[in-house]
Amino acid sequence: MSVQPHAPQPALTLQFERPEDGPAVDGLIDRAFGPGRYTKVSERVREFAQFAPELSVVAVSQGRLMGCARMWRVRVGGQPVTFLGPFAVDQGERNAGFGARMIERACEAARAAGETHVFLVGDEPYFGRVGFSGALATGVVMPAPVDQRRVLARDLTGGDTPLSGSVTPA
Ligand SMILES: CC(C)(COP(=O)(O)OP(=O)(O)OC[C@H]1O[C@@H](n2cnc3c(N)ncnc32)[C@H](O)[C@@H]1OP(=O)(O)O)[C@@H](O)C(=O)NCCC(=O)NCCS
Repeated sequence: MSVQPHAPQPALTLQFERPEDGPAVDGLIDRAFGPGRYTKVSERVREFAQFAPELSVVAVSQGRLMGCARMWRVRVGGQPVTFLGPFAVDQGERNAGFGARMIERACEAARAAGETHVFLVGDEPYFGRVGFSGALATGVVMPAPVDQRRVLARDLTGGDTPLSGSVTPA
């Protein structure tokens, strides 16, 4: 009996978000979060944050957009920092490491651009695996009520300096 080799995985490309990616990114976010996306505290931040497409990563396979990690510029306690989200991978493509790769690429780009920190609102069991910690964000004051345990930050400088203060426009 012959053994069939596994079909090769289609190549996944990570690239920075272009204006023409917008509708596909919006569709992916809608599928991943549903209408509840607009009620999130992160949306309150994005209402005044400055979108940074040059730091925002999309994952494309065979011409299809299947992941996104958007980045925004704000300040925390007066310090310029980046805010990550929405972050999503299409349902059928999850658990293959694409999410972690997108986070890493977005953080690398932010570091190269001179940013010191990235922060977000999310699950520590996931984001703790990709370098984020609640301990660095206990002093972050979000613009709307939040479960403070879900506010997480990553120091891009190699240190572990916490963020502290109110989130305000860049
Ligand atoms: C979160 C998300 C982007 C991760 O994408 P992904 O490409 O599947 O992530 P990775 O492949 O890097 O990691 C998968 C691992 O993380 C785990 N994981 C996924 N979401 C998790 C969560 N919320 N909490 C804890 N672990 C989680 C998976 O079980 C898997 O574990 P394993 O490696 O032990 O099998 C994807 O699950 C998604 O789009 N979810 C819906 C939208 C969402 O919740 N976004 C985050 C909002 S803050």
